[in-house]
Amino acid sequence: MTAVDATTPPSTAPTEASSAQAPVTGAGVTRKGTPREVAAGRHLWGHFTRQDAWDRGEVTTIVRAEGEYLWDQNGHRLFDGLSGLFVVQVGHGRHELAEAAAKQARDLAFFPVWGYAHTPGIDLAERLADYAPGDLNHVFYTTGGSEAVETAWKLAKQYWQLVGKPGKRKVLSRDGAYHGTTHGALSLTRIGGYQAPYTPLVEGASQVPNTNAYRSQPQFWDDQVAYGRWAADEVERQILAEGPDTVAALFVEPVQNSGGCFVPPPGYFARVREICDRYDVLLVSDEVICAYGRTGGIFASADLGYVPDIITSSKGLTSGYSPIGAVLVSDRVYEPYRRGEAVFTHGYTFGGHPVSSAVALANLDILEREGLVDRVRTLGPAFKATLERLYDIPIVGDVRGAGYFLGLELTRDPATRERFTEKESDRLRAFLNPALYEAGLYCRADDRGDVVIQLAPPLTSGQAEFDLIESILRDVLVRAASRL
Ligand SMILES: Cc1ncc(COP(=O)(O)O)c(C=O)c1O
Repeated sequence: MTAVDATTPPSTAPTEASSAQAPVTGAGVTRKGTPREVAAGRHLWGHFTRQDAWDRGEVTTIVRAEGEYLWDQNGHRLFDGLSGLFVVQVGHGRHELAEAAAKQARDLAFFPVWGYAHTPGIDLAERLADYAPGDLNHVFYTTGGSEAVETAWKLAKQYWQLVGKPGKRKVLSRDGAYHGTTHGALSLTRIGGYQAPYTPLVEGASQVPNTNAYRSQPQFWDDQVAYGRWAADEVERQILAEGPDTVAALFVEPVQNSGGCFVPPPGYFARVREICDRYDVLLVSDEVICAYGRTGGIFASADLGYVPDIITSSKGLTSGYSPIGAVLVSDRVYEPYRRGEAVFTHGYTFGGHPVSSAVALANLDILEREGLVDRVRTLGPAFKATLERLYDIPIVGDVRGAGYFLGLELTRDPATRERFTEKESDRLRAFLNPALYEAGLYCRADDRGDVVIQLAPPLTSGQAEFDLIESILRDVLVRAASRL
């Protein structure tokens, strides 16, 4: 019932119960739903949300969560198959995190990191530097992912200015990638429909191919090494086309979310690193989703064996118990900023908020104490294998991803990889989202291009939860296939 995007889960819940409420009339619109649902339609503006359904009082409200489960206003229980929005690594209802927030709010609720430091901000920066690959020893805080991406681009531009290459201001990112919604981040978000209403965007952003192996040219289907080499070499081609003296940075996710969990082919990142070094282009690893255990590593780049110049991160750092983002920067990129009078004239009032920093530290404690990152490394293959059981359903084309970050691509004919028509895709999504919700699984069918169901459960999940996800998907997908 709502439009959804690369990052936002659909508000898909069926509304029979709320529809059963007496209609409420207001502002010339007949509204159904409880007074609170009506108030939502009147006053709450959802993100990436079509407001017309809300205006009719059809508002799904999540009221409670515990462990891996959510409950809506009608008492409907759902498995949280998306960790909220790729966020809630340690699961819901962790009193320890609530208490860490309360204690910090009592000790020092707020102070900015503008010219001053605070204890949790220092401790978290030190700890993140410790986890980071290579010499990414310097942490610049934000309040979320878009701001982290924004920060990285500005930081890269100024870096090149400080080292005497002021012409390097352009950036590259990958086809279909989602890097956020602020103007800079949106310029890197290569999704036409998201950019169109907001032009002119920040100039200087251009596109390179992603690593959607399933939709690659058939000659690569059996040769992933060649595919990785081709995709990386396209980065070089684009740098040369733009002019190496004009390109500041390349933004890539370790595993691209948008489009449905595109993993890097073997050799891809080694080659990309080599190309970035050759042309003096900073490699920015956008780990807003992939970090903090999601794909099996505190930082996904470290797990995949490459060392970027900058990492952007957010989401899982606090498991969502309080908002924060962190940009990690290498010694080399930091160096000119610590000399003389150079200042990075950039900041956010709430960047590195003390309460969020304290929650992040407590969240990292849980990840370590409960071995959740290792759990993802160990159980990730079992999660994938469980979903691969669905290959016997005639519309399941590809199961892919890394760790607890998987996508399931649906296709008209798995043998030929024939796509659904646009109409069929729309019909499928319109069926899938509410059907999955009704069946007790909160996740989403990605709404651009091919139909991909995305799954990213809390890192506390195990085989019982994988089986539950598989059985709900099986039931819904069998019904979906029979309706085509
Ligand atoms: C890779 C990536 N970068 C940036 C962002 C933007 O983060 P935020 O929504 O916190 O601004 C997202 C959000 O999903 C993301 O997936």
